[in-house]
Amino acid sequence: MKLKEEIERRRTFAIVSHPDAGKTTLTEKFLLFGGAINVAGAVKSNKIKKTATSDFMEIEKQRGISVATSVMGFEYGGKKINILDTPGHQDFAEDTFRTLTAADSVIIVIDAAKGVEAQTRKLMNVCRMRKTPVMVFVNKLDRPGRDPFDLLDEIEEELEIQVHPLSWPVSMGPDFRGVYNRFDRTFRSFRSENKQTIGELVEFDKMDDPNFRKHIHPHADRLGEELALIAGVYPDFKREDYLEGRLAPLFFGSALNNFGVQDILDCFIQVAPSPGPIQTESRKVEPAEEKFSGFVFKIHANMDPNHRDRIAFIKIVSGKFERNKGYVHVRTGRKLKFSSPTSFMAEKKSIIDAAYPGDIVGVHDTGNFKIGDAVSEGEKLQFQGMPSFSPEMFRYVENNDPNKFKQLSKGLDQLMDEGVAQLFVSVANGRKIIGTVGALQFDVIQYRLEHEYGALCRYEQLPMHKACWIESKNEVKLKDFRLRKFQQLAKDKEGREVYMAESPYALQMARDNFPEIAFHFSSEF
Ligand code: G4P
Repeated sequence: MKLKEEIERRRTFAIVSHPDAGKTTLTEKFLLFGGAINVAGAVKSNKIKKTATSDFMEIEKQRGISVATSVMGFEYGGKKINILDTPGHQDFAEDTFRTLTAADSVIIVIDAAKGVEAQTRKLMNVCRMRKTPVMVFVNKLDRPGRDPFDLLDEIEEELEIQVHPLSWPVSMGPDFRGVYNRFDRTFRSFRSENKQTIGELVEFDKMDDPNFRKHIHPHADRLGEELALIAGVYPDFKREDYLEGRLAPLFFGSALNNFGVQDILDCFIQVAPSPGPIQTESRKVEPAEEKFSGFVFKIHANMDPNHRDRIAFIKIVSGKFERNKGYVHVRTGRKLKFSSPTSFMAEKKSIIDAAYPGDIVGVHDTGNFKIGDAVSEGEKLQFQGMPSFSPEMFRYVENNDPNKFKQLSKGLDQLMDEGVAQLFVSVANGRKIIGTVGALQFDVIQYRLEHEYGALCRYEQLPMHKACWIESKNEVKLKDFRLRKFQQLAKDKEGREVYMAESPYALQMARDNFPEIAFHFSSEF
C-alpha cells in the first residue's frame, strides 16, 4: 500500500471522560467490534481507585496496566484505528492533556445522569484550544437519566461547542426502547435481557410504519415530535464544521450494554479525520512527506526499579518509520536506531518493522527523551502544540539526605522529563518548586525518587494558586513587574519566566496593575 493510502486509512483518537462515565467500557466495546478482543472484561480499567491515594503498590500496579492500555490498535471497516487511552484519575490530568497532543480527534463520554462534570470541562478546554474535532457519546441510557434536550443544552453551554445529535433515544432507564439513528435513518431496539448484543435493527420506511410504531409504543408520537424539533433547532450536519472543531456530532447509548456503540463507530470511521499536518517552529510538516518525523508525547518508566529504562511513545507525523533505520534525536543531535520498536494491538504488544503517520510506536529509552522531543531523518524540527499547563498545587522540594544530592537532582530531572510534574526554581531564593495537578503526584514522586533513584526528599507547603508564563513587549513594565513581584518569580525548566500568583485575587491585581503584561496559563502562546 502506498504511503498516502496508509495515511488515509488511519484514525488516531483519544477517549476522554470524567472518571466513571464509561470510558473503559466504551473502549472495550470498540475493541470487540474490531475483533481485537473476544470477551468483555479484557480491557483493564487503568483508573486508580479513589481510595488508593496513598497505596503505592496500587499506583505501581496501575502504572503497569496503563502501559498495556496506552495505545490500542484495531482494524474496523477497512480503517486502522488507534485508541489512545487516558488516565481516569484527575490527578493525572496533565498526562491526559499531553495524550491529546497525539490524538487527531477525540470522543468525549458523558454520563446521562450526571451531565457535564469538572474533568470533562477541563479536557474540552484543551480540545478547543487545539481545535481538535470532538464527538460526544452520552452513556448509561439504561439508567434513569436527564432529559436529552436539557443535556444537549448543558453540553453546548458548559463545553462551549455546538452539538448535533446524530442519534436520538426513545425513553431512558427501565423503559429505554432504543436509539433512532439520524445519520443513516434506522432504529435499533434495545432489549435489556440480552445485554451483550448490539440490538435488533428495525427497518422501516416512514415514521408511521406500524411495525416500527409497535416497537416503540407508546413513545411513537413523542419521537416524531422530538425529531421534528431537532430538525428545526439543529442545522444540518456538515463535516467541515466537525473537522474544524466547531460542532460535535453526538450519540446516545449504553456502553455496558454495547448499545449505540456501533452507531458512533460507523459514523466515526466515515467522518473522523486521518492524520493531518503539524506545525513546527520552522514549517508545517505534512504526513505524506517522504521523510520520517515524529514526536514523543508520553514516557513510561519501567516497573522494575532495578532497571531505570523507559518506554517513550512516539507519534508518527510524516513518512514511513522503519525498524533499524538511522534517525536523529533532534534536541541532542544524537543518532538513533530502534531495534525493537513496538506497536500495540488491543492489549498485545509486538515488535514492528514499519509504521505510518498516525501510528504510535513505543521505543526503548535509557533516559534521553523528554516529552515533546522530535525524531527525524536529520531535519531540525521542533513541533509546536505541546504546551505545559499551569499546575494547581505547589510545594518546595528539599533534599533529605545530604549524601544523595546528585541522585535527587537526577531523579527530579528525569521524572520531570517524563512529565510527572513540573519543576520551577524560585528567582528570589533559588529553591526548587514542584508543581502538580493533583496531590497524588507528590506521593508518586517521593516514592519513585526513593525506590528508583535512592534519594530522599521532603516537601514544604507553598500555598500558591497558579503559575503564569509572562511576556510583554514593554521592557520597562516588565522590569518594573520583576522588581515588584521579585518574591513570586520563578523560572521553569526551559528557563522561561513564570509568575506564581498566591491567589486568584493576587493574579487579578497583577493583571489590573500591569495591563501591558500577558499572563499565560500554558507555556505555549
Ligand atoms: P471510566 O473508565 O470512565 O472511569 O468508567 P468505566 O468504563 O470503568 O465505567 C464506570 C462504571 O460504570 C462501571 O461500573 C461500568 O460497568 C459502569 N458503566 C459503564 N457503562 C455503563 C452503561 O452503559 N450503563 C450502566 N448502567 N453502567 C455502565 P463499576 O461498578 O464502577 O465497575 P465494574 O465493577 O462494573 O467494572
